[in-house]
Amino acid sequence: MRLLLSLLFLLALTTYSSATYCLCRDGVGEKDLQTSIDYACGVLKDCNPIHEKGPCYQPNTIKSHCDWAVNTYFQRFGQISGSCNFSGTATTSQNLPSTVVTGCLYPSSPGYVCFKIW
Ligand SMILES: *[C@@H]1O[C@H](CO)[C@@H](O)[C@H](O)[C@H]1NC(C)=O
Repeated sequence: MRLLLSLLFLLALTTYSSATYCLCRDGVGEKDLQTSIDYACGVLKDCNPIHEKGPCYQPNTIKSHCDWAVNTYFQRFGQISGSCNFSGTATTSQNLPSTVVTGCLYPSSPGYVCFKIW
């Protein structure tokens, strides 16, 4: 239990100190956004949060689902430079999309994702 608490504390620290997100660009066509979602989700295997009834399903727009998918992919691969591109449809950001709903988790650092994988 103590170990778990320390991990959570560490997690909180890293989450707040180095927030870098990867989001889909505005103005990209829905077909291209969908391609990026499919690619990211194909690698991630799990895109349940943006499926119906998932915590990140709302707002139900391709752009919003794309944000979640590419961001999760980007964190999963340790924010490797160049992994937030998706053929030019995505770019890094210091801020979360304004549309994120309560309960939808956006990992903001690679450490968070490692923690989740354990
Ligand atoms: C992103 O991808 C596009 C198209 O594949 C490429 O032209 C561009 O150079 C890439 N940008 C970065 C920063 O890697």
